[in-house]
Amino acid sequence: MPTHVRLYSKDEELGKRDDDFKPRRGPKATNLAKPWRWRKRRVLSVIALLVMGYVFFRNIPEGLGLVERRMASSIGPSDSAGKPAGNRVEPTGAPARPRTVADDGGSSHYYDGPIKFYRLASTLHAITHTFGLRLQNRNVLFAVSSLQSAANLMPMACEMAKWDRNYVHMAFLGRDSLSVDDILGVNGVSRSDCAANFHDARSDYSKYSIERRAEVSVSGAMKHINDFMHPQAIIMDDSTLEDAFFVRAMRYKAGEIGHALIEIPAGRYEDFLWMTRLDAGSLSNWFKPTIEILIHAPPHSSGGLIRLVRSLEDAEYAGFAVPKMTVELPPDIDHFAKTFLERLQWPRRTQHDTRTLNTLALRHRIPSAHLSSEQASIRFVESFYPSVSEDNHVLVLSAQAEISPLYLHYLHYVTLEYKYSSYTSTESDRLLGVSLDIPTAFLNGSGRFAPPSIGEMRDNASQSYSDEEKGDQPGSTPFLYQGPSATATLFFGDKWNTLHSFLTNHLASSHRGTAERTKKFVSEAEPAWLEYLLELMRARGWSMLYPATPLVTIHNELSQIPEEYSREIDGAPEMGTPKDPEHLAEEAFLLADESPVIVEHVERETPEAQPLQDMLPFRGDLPELPHLPFLTYAGDVVNTTIQEDLVQSYASEFRRSIGGCQGVDATRKRIISDPTRTDDLFCFPGVDVEFDMSTEEDEVQVAHEVIAATAGPESTVEGVRHGTSKAVVDSALKNGEGAPVGVKAGQAEHG
Ligand SMILES: *[C@@H]1O[C@H](CO)[C@@H](O)[C@H](O)[C@H]1NC(C)=O
Ligand SMILES: *[C@@H]1O[C@H](CO)[C@@H](O)[C@H](O)[C@H]1NC(C)=O
Ligand SMILES: *[C@@H]1O[C@H](CO)[C@@H](O)[C@H](O)[C@H]1NC(C)=O
Repeated sequence: MPTHVRLYSKDEELGKRDDDFKPRRGPKATNLAKPWRWRKRRVLSVIALLVMGYVFFRNIPEGLGLVERRMASSIGPSDSAGKPAGNRVEPTGAPARPRTVADDGGSSHYYDGPIKFYRLASTLHAITHTFGLRLQNRNVLFAVSSLQSAANLMPMACEMAKWDRNYVHMAFLGRDSLSVDDILGVNGVSRSDCAANFHDARSDYSKYSIERRAEVSVSGAMKHINDFMHPQAIIMDDSTLEDAFFVRAMRYKAGEIGHALIEIPAGRYEDFLWMTRLDAGSLSNWFKPTIEILIHAPPHSSGGLIRLVRSLEDAEYAGFAVPKMTVELPPDIDHFAKTFLERLQWPRRTQHDTRTLNTLALRHRIPSAHLSSEQASIRFVESFYPSVSEDNHVLVLSAQAEISPLYLHYLHYVTLEYKYSSYTSTESDRLLGVSLDIPTAFLNGSGRFAPPSIGEMRDNASQSYSDEEKGDQPGSTPFLYQGPSATATLFFGDKWNTLHSFLTNHLASSHRGTAERTKKFVSEAEPAWLEYLLELMRARGWSMLYPATPLVTIHNELSQIPEEYSREIDGAPEMGTPKDPEHLAEEAFLLADESPVIVEHVERETPEAQPLQDMLPFRGDLPELPHLPFLTYAGDVVNTTIQEDLVQSYASEFRRSIGGCQGVDATRKRIISDPTRTDDLFCFPGVDVEFDMSTEEDEVQVAHEVIAATAGPESTVEGVRHGTSKAVVDSALKNGEGAPVGVKAGQAEHG
């Protein structure tokens, strides 16, 4: 089971929090209860220790845990019956100014007394419906200190609450003394239009706190909030705008409780509004996905390469890690490209910034007389390997691309939504990647590819989407297409890993001579590795997500045939080495008789710069993958049933023609014990095959038989279970059962 399937566990231990709140009755008290036994010297030393302990206690900056425990009683779970304790009246007015304040006599920040939260308990006790006591839930917290930051984040919090996928909370942790209602009033927000829960987490006398007390107060409040809420993600304003004590405490505390602390960059609140459509599962994984850029620069393409890199430099990166970039250079680099790359600072940095490392990596190819499509594929696929396959993804760009400034926003948005959400589906496990482009032609290079329309959505979803949209015109919905693209595509790391395994097995099978040479389907104007990837996609039922409007412009003027497929035309050699018949015979696939022809790519305009949620259809909401129209590699729109049949029949066909399997070994469904391996598509001598029986007979019965028959190699048992659970999950999904708690509640928006 992929690790990103995060369902809420219903049997979460609920009583955990109460343990944390047990008043600390130390054994010390009982020992001291019999003072007459103590010798005088010992008594003195104990007193000295206590005094030292007290001094230490008051002065440790990081010893927040102790302070918190002491403070726990001040918000008091003991009154969980809901009754406010009688002596809980917050003092008003200024606290007494200590006489010993020598440093800043005029400052209003002088108070360093014990910390009490008088206003937090009531709102925290009122959120039990959010299942905040569970470690996994749907709570998202906006934390603010300064009033300006409250104004900056409030529209976002209210917007997120409106989408209703999460329980949204906003906590005020600053020093000011304005009441929550006043803060809302100043920002023009009323509790009736904003469904967020507001929490006043400021301590008593917060206005007068010295810096350290303010910081400890934020940590203490966050401890209580975490106990009652377990926020999956915490969102705060830009740290350069927020109060310093707040930033320090939040960073420390978020690290300690292990939740994502997302900072919205200053002034980009509108640009990041798309994050309000994400669920708590996606937001909690905000920092997980990393993207690396891989550019393949063919010979004589320096103009395109420079244009592409410039567009990458001009893109929006605030709030994200700038991707690492690798450029694969051709054997002969021309002068322009060389000087350009020498001067390139990636990521772009300001003059005074000398610490940012240049993460540009160049690869230079040593020319060989003849590059077969097999070698070219290996070379390319080898140029990336994820260290964490679930989280490290690669963006492959061709030198003809010019990218939209919002590409990284878009990629993060769709990746977080479809790969990291608490709501998962078979389709999201089968998502190979995300294309920024819309194809012009079919994979074979002919025909005219027409993107599907909203009316072709699956599961009757078009009804819920078409009302508010432009109607049935093409290009108004994203779609899934079983066609790989090398122009501008993000490939997910786990799928790339699988491609490594597939290529390894495929080559072994080809070299053993068991693989038939099949006709190539993908046009020879495309790189050779796409053919292997297409085979894998068809055998696994993978597809790629294509956008409704492209986020990249593909230029035609420098396009060229990949080196591995270039041949002589009318006696005049094209660029690269011509292929002679002998080499053609060595190819893994049958090539066409004629030279490939480059199809003009439609240079679609990328939309003008506007925030993502305004650019994407459906007000920036991403439809569920099982609702999107699905196109087979041949461009036919099919429903889920047909799609599944196609996968099974192609997998059998592949095993027979390329995998070296015969008879029942080829036709019966096999177990995929590790999704990043492809051994189920091949038959090698001496390697056992494991059939998936779950669909044929009573599952339990079969599982027992298999276990008995094979005397239980670990993988078989695992595999059977996997096959079984998958089928059960699928049927449950179809029947609408077993939907996780995090199901897109926001879908109601479309009704
Ligand atoms: C789609 O709608 C039709 C009629 O409204 C209904 O009969 C059919 O079962 C629906 N299909 C799905 C997959 O929900
Ligand atoms: C290319 O593929 C499309 C879609 O599958 C098909 O309609 C067309 O006939 C194919 N063209 C050639 C020349 O094979
Ligand atoms: C899927 O499409 C096929 C052919 O178009 C049709 O026979 C079948 O009933 C459809 N299945 C569903 C569940 O809509």
